[in-house]
Amino acid sequence: MDTLTDKFGRKITYLRLAVTDRCNLRCQYCMPAHGIDIVKREELLTFKEMYRITRILSELGVNKVRLTGGEPFVRKGFVSFLEMLSFNDKLDEINITTNGALISKHIIKLEELKIKTINLSIDSLSKESFAKITRRNIFNQVYKTLEKLEESSLKLKLNTVIQSGVNTDEIIDFIELTKHKNLEVRFIEEMPFNGTGQRATKEVWNYTKILDLIKSKYPEIKPLISEKSSTSKMFKMEGYLGSFGIIPAFTRTICGDCNRIRITATGLFKNCLFDEGVFNIRAFIRNGATDSELKQLFLSIVKEKPENGFIAEANRKNNKNVSESMSTIGG
Ligand code: 5AD
Ligand code: SF4
Repeated sequence: MDTLTDKFGRKITYLRLAVTDRCNLRCQYCMPAHGIDIVKREELLTFKEMYRITRILSELGVNKVRLTGGEPFVRKGFVSFLEMLSFNDKLDEINITTNGALISKHIIKLEELKIKTINLSIDSLSKESFAKITRRNIFNQVYKTLEKLEESSLKLKLNTVIQSGVNTDEIIDFIELTKHKNLEVRFIEEMPFNGTGQRATKEVWNYTKILDLIKSKYPEIKPLISEKSSTSKMFKMEGYLGSFGIIPAFTRTICGDCNRIRITATGLFKNCLFDEGVFNIRAFIRNGATDSELKQLFLSIVKEKPENGFIAEANRKNNKNVSESMSTIGG
């Protein structure tokens, strides 16, 4: 069987699929207060198209899918799509990234499906600060969902974007949350994916700075062995139920083991988070592409996967500086 392999020998086994570009929150680091220009419905891939793309990719070696957005649960029919995807035997894992606002009533259903992990985006444990970051007053609701997820059979990971001048003083609070809760907190470096570009800040909170702060409080932290293609470097405090880690999303020290591709809600194929989209699969499909043409296409685009995120960024033709919203790209 042909499998997706790039010219550096990296095997592509992981698809991140954005099911919508819409979101019910307005996180500061993701979009301006008035939101982003959302695309017309007909420009979005249909669930049927997404199912077909995923099936073909799974025949080429993809065994793990992450569904993202925007906020995936705002798209009508998303839960039925999850049911459909769960029938694909070639997929070992289906994971979801969500802001948690709409998921509570679906948890039992998700437990029955092939969903393994929920990545819940939560950047603050304080109601006021959460409201400032997301521009929506729903902290209590999201925190209740966090507790429900932690008690469920789903694995829970928290995504916490570390924002200079906003939530760096909560890093320790998040680690303390792992004392009695069985979850993974992942501190993510802020990236300029907010619809406007790099945010002006006094200090740069990168991987090293986050780790230095943690070590100053917990000199005895132990690194855990992470899976090779993992995006995060994980740690655990002795005696704590959960664990925590740091994702060097912006300093990009993890590209060498990358096994990921992305497809945006409009069907743009991305070999790297930092490229500007390398192929419009939606147009290709709607022009009547056969399964075998799609297979050939995927095999050949993956060959062009850039060695790392810096090269991907340098290769951009149109917008030299990455600035599109994460809601458009798909987290
Ligand atoms: N920098 C870092 N992470 C971001 N996310 C969204 N925008 C940014 C950004 N500018 C993260 C969110 C969410 C995931 C979808 O992407 O926290 O967890
Ligand atoms: Fe919505 Fe996620 Fe963007 Fe926040 S970061 S506005 S939750 S898509």
